[in-house]
Amino acid sequence: MSTLAAVPPFASPAGAETPSMKHQWLPFTPNREFKSDPKLFARAQGQYFYDPAGRAILDAGSGLFTTPAGHGRREIADAVHAQLLELDFTPSFLRAHPKSFELADRLAALLPAHIDKLFFVSSGSEAVDTAMKICLAYQRAKGAPGRTMFVSRERAYHGVNFGGVALSGMVNNRRAYGNVVHGVVHMRDTWMEENRFASGQPQFGRERADDLLRLIQLHGAENIAACVVEPVAGSTGVLVPPVGYLERLREICTANGILLVFDEVICGFGRTGEPFAAQSFGVKPDLITMAKAITNGAVPMAAVAVADHVHDAIVNGAPDGAIEFFHGYTWSAHPVSCAAALAALDIYRDERLFERARELSGYFLEQVATLRELPTVTDIRGFGMIAGIDVKADGAPGQRGYDLQKKLFDNGLHLKTTGDCAILAPQFVFTREHVDATVRILRDTIASL
Ligand SMILES: Cc1ncc(COP(=O)(O)O)c(C=O)c1O
Repeated sequence: MSTLAAVPPFASPAGAETPSMKHQWLPFTPNREFKSDPKLFARAQGQYFYDPAGRAILDAGSGLFTTPAGHGRREIADAVHAQLLELDFTPSFLRAHPKSFELADRLAALLPAHIDKLFFVSSGSEAVDTAMKICLAYQRAKGAPGRTMFVSRERAYHGVNFGGVALSGMVNNRRAYGNVVHGVVHMRDTWMEENRFASGQPQFGRERADDLLRLIQLHGAENIAACVVEPVAGSTGVLVPPVGYLERLREICTANGILLVFDEVICGFGRTGEPFAAQSFGVKPDLITMAKAITNGAVPMAAVAVADHVHDAIVNGAPDGAIEFFHGYTWSAHPVSCAAALAALDIYRDERLFERARELSGYFLEQVATLRELPTVTDIRGFGMIAGIDVKADGAPGQRGYDLQKKLFDNGLHLKTTGDCAILAPQFVFTREHVDATVRILRDTIASL
């Protein structure tokens, strides 16, 4: 039972009214249903969101995997405010500003030693598509222009731009848009019946990774640019890489001239116990994408981190004075985003948040595992500060998960659901009491389904 003191409600400002909702088209939301029964957050502080009536909702999803340091961080707000007054914008092509170089230095210090070049973008989807372009440009620079295919995985999520959609292995995100980007093939995902309710990393990883060999044998290594995976598949239900899986992918990629990309949009910034999952699992990818927690969710920002040999092949291989990589966005390395990211990195360092996450992880995973006793729970997976809980489908696939998510909001808990899976990604500033409250609300709500 939670020992948390009752959370005081926040009063809405006098005269605040719910807007009409007629004009905004909401992403990944059943619009008509939402507008008939809206679920709004009006403010956020610390570990809580607050609805317009001031009711507290515990944030066990770190927003959308974005906000491990908790909401309303004054340090970030102050940095953003000061930056807006000092330098609100810099054109990102042929001009730059000092803070982006400082941020690149800070990120390079957190990344695995062999990866220290940063290309800044504004979302996870942009990071993924940028990484794909870097892989293609690298293969071309190395004299292998025929390597244009990508290998990814079923049950992968790599964002919603065209490259990322093609990489993703989620039918609903693909079926309405046809097979527009060609040349992407998918390995099997890493969920296995025999690993149900496994704690930590499950078994049989090397065998599952050999699926990459099957695709190489089918399509020819000489046609494949890169293999892209989330180290822990996050938004499709927390698929923890089985023992030896990522290591074996690395071996196969190296032996076949294929780049290995880790999409760490969720895993990055301490979620798996180290700054990046590449470090948690001791595997060296050639590229790492990151987003979300880079600014603690306060301002959009993302990046692609690139190993020296990849960067150098493209940049040093171009003629003098030439633009080496024809790519970039208006908002790349926006000064306000850089200021927010630097402030977030200061918080992570000064409050030892990655260490705190590591320390809390054992208790968190242990408590989540107790939900196994509920008859509707069919599997639980977790690693570091992320866990997925599958509930038995009832009616159409995803319906029960959808109902669960709505009831959780009513019962004062925020997390993401995908299909019939509830995904927990607690803030690193959670205490054991917050974990207890999360598990208690989940238990009661799942039991009531
Ligand atoms: C692994 C992964 N890649 C890419 C993305 C896309 O990020 P964004 O929504 O910022 O475009 C996400 C979003 O959840 C993600 O989890």
